[in-house]
Amino acid sequence: MRAVQITRLDGPSALEVVSIDEPAPDAGSVVIDVHVAGVTFPEVLQSRGQYQLKPPLPFVPGSEVAGVVRSGPGFAAGLRVAAFPGLGGFAEVVAVDPGSVFPLPDSVSFAAGAALPMNYLTVHFGLVRRGRLREGETVLVHGAAGGVGTAAVQLASALGARVIAVVSSSDKAGTAKAAGAQDVVPADGFKDAVKELTGGRGVDLVVDPVGGDRFTDSLRSLAREGRLLVVGFTGGEIPQVKVNRLLLNNISVVGVGWGAFWTAQPGYLQEQWAQLLPLISAGKLDPVLGRTFPLAEAGRALSELDERRATGKILLSVRQPAGEG
Ligand SMILES: NC(=O)c1ccc[n+]([C@@H]2O[C@H](COP(=O)([O-])OP(=O)(O)OC[C@H]3O[C@@H](n4cnc5c(N)ncnc54)[C@H](OP(=O)(O)O)[C@@H]3O)[C@@H](O)[C@H]2O)c1
Repeated sequence: MRAVQITRLDGPSALEVVSIDEPAPDAGSVVIDVHVAGVTFPEVLQSRGQYQLKPPLPFVPGSEVAGVVRSGPGFAAGLRVAAFPGLGGFAEVVAVDPGSVFPLPDSVSFAAGAALPMNYLTVHFGLVRRGRLREGETVLVHGAAGGVGTAAVQLASALGARVIAVVSSSDKAGTAKAAGAQDVVPADGFKDAVKELTGGRGVDLVVDPVGGDRFTDSLRSLAREGRLLVVGFTGGEIPQVKVNRLLLNNISVVGVGWGAFWTAQPGYLQEQWAQLLPLISAGKLDPVLGRTFPLAEAGRALSELDERRATGKILLSVRQPAGEG
């Protein structure tokens, strides 16, 4: 089969298309013919050996896919599914643990399906379980035109929150609006804009996949008993928190480590999918899609994220033009 491998740790340009054996079918895995693979920031980090998961070289990256079941326990051959293999998804065929395979409604394309597992399950864990989001609350989302960001905007809106999006360009503002943000503010000076939009009160929840130098202003943007969700560090720096700020304003900084949570809790991913399915079927969770690249251009796809150009979810078309099916 055709697959993309990371063979050296010098960034997106080191990805290579290779011909390797298909995964050998085993009794415990679901074998999937991959149609579309989702591209995520962790793959950018993996291409430099900077992600917590460090498989021996060479390896096939690709954490999420959509396609058709070939064989495997509990899933009929021919079923359209999304899946979260973690690794191995940038390939024509992938073997996945049954707990990480999710049947797709007929109304959901393979492109949309491939955009769902990592980002939507992460923000569901973050907003609902860790952030305890309640209907009517206000949520500030950083990196709101990115994969995690657009998913957070959509899910928070679908759960009845008001969403203020933070982005770095006018192009990205359009993407955040398309995801359902009521207001979009520029990254520069976002704190003052938030104060104005909330009548000085601040927001109940901040979703932060960016980190870096925005962190302190994010804390200052929180209302009483507000929560800041630490999701990632695309801005590069891991921020420090002076805990007196938490005490003085009765606010919380909350870690969101989706992978660390579900790997220790069998069945959790299926529970999450079951909770999201009504919203997916109703079209309320419909990923905002960005550019699609052919499998052979996986390195260019990763560069879109690495060089901060991505608007919406970046995809790899493995078997057919993304969007069909
Ligand atoms: N905690 C978890 O369980 C979990 C799960 C999944 C992903 N993550 C993490 O979440 C983060 C976001 O992932 P993603 O797939 O949404 O990435 P993405 O699509 O590339 O979006 C990230 C956003 O970060 C902003 N950004 C600020 N500085 C940047 C820089 N120097 N380079 C690139 N982007 C920059 C960009 O928005 P602006 O240009 O508008 O600022 C961009 O849209 C990553 O750190 C990822 O590892 C965490």
